[in-house]
Amino acid sequence: MGKKTKKIGILTAGGDCPGLNAAIRGVGKTAILKYGMEVYGFSSGFLGLINQEYNLLNERTLSGILTMGGTILGTSREKPFKHRDYDEYVKSKPDRIVETCRRLKLDALVCIGGNGTMKTANKLSEMGLNVIGIPKTIDNDVWGSDITFGFDSAVCIATEAIDRMHSTANSHKRIMVVEVMGHHTGWLSLYSGVAGGGDVILLPEIPWKPEVLKEYLLQRADRGKPYSIIVCAEGVKVPGKAYKKMNCGTAMARLIQDITGLETRETILGYIQRGGSPSPRDRIIATELGAYGAEMAAKRNFGKMAAYRGRDLTMVNLPDVAGKTKLVPADHPLIQKARSLDTCFGDKL
Ligand code: F6P
Repeated sequence: MGKKTKKIGILTAGGDCPGLNAAIRGVGKTAILKYGMEVYGFSSGFLGLINQEYNLLNERTLSGILTMGGTILGTSREKPFKHRDYDEYVKSKPDRIVETCRRLKLDALVCIGGNGTMKTANKLSEMGLNVIGIPKTIDNDVWGSDITFGFDSAVCIATEAIDRMHSTANSHKRIMVVEVMGHHTGWLSLYSGVAGGGDVILLPEIPWKPEVLKEYLLQRADRGKPYSIIVCAEGVKVPGKAYKKMNCGTAMARLIQDITGLETRETILGYIQRGGSPSPRDRIIATELGAYGAEMAAKRNFGKMAAYRGRDLTMVNLPDVAGKTKLVPADHPLIQKARSLDTCFGDKL
């Protein structure tokens, strides 16, 4: 890889999220228009590098995509280091990736993704590639960056869904469990739960007790509250054999109905949270991170991930990010404030 950055590759990997196209546009336009680079877009995450599937991007292909959901490059959950192929006659996937980069004479590879992508990006960096990471995910759990794009859009979508639960829950005097995504973390549950006025907010980071929930919900009913909304992160564990094979939202609703005797229904928001146009805030974050990523490539800041510290853009070393998850701290200020409004987190009354 040469001294001046002339050619870069870009890919999006892992689960998609709103803002990916805004980030691709941010990297691509800055690289082409400001720095005069050539930009190759790889298809379907690391698969495009393994299978040599790519396109040269230009101003035209990067136009009109800012507001679009998904990713024009496609994505996949391919983990090239997972099943390393040691057959001496067949090149391993990581070797094929390195070969593609060398053949195209890429000076840098920009990987837009979440925790899994940063892990792979770090391994490729260890193999000698000039790699730059850009964090994305609706889960907001990438270590080293205060925010990731995708999260704000997902919070908006989940909040709107929770808003709509109130009237139907009230009409039927029911408990409603809303399961939101978040993988092993509760950022989405916390933010959409507070924004949507959830009475109970459950996160994987805060161990909860069925007896606390029971007491809280029955007390609300005694105080004349006709309904309750429970916002539950998908990563929350529900104890008990009877609920074992169910997904979290369904299991939670069954358990609550069983222990309280109150009629309970569940809604699992699923992929709605990842689809569609990014929020204005996510467009801004993705554009800033993308442009900054291209700048990092021009200045040859490799082996690092673009990140936010508060409102400031900064860089963190990929080895520091790889293999870590940014959890919600149990004393997060938003949790403390919500508790003061009598929101229950399932751990205490
Ligand atoms: O990481 C984003 C995310 O949407 C998680 O919230 C969820 O657990 C997971 O991806 C779903 O992944 P898949 O697209 O592989 O079903």
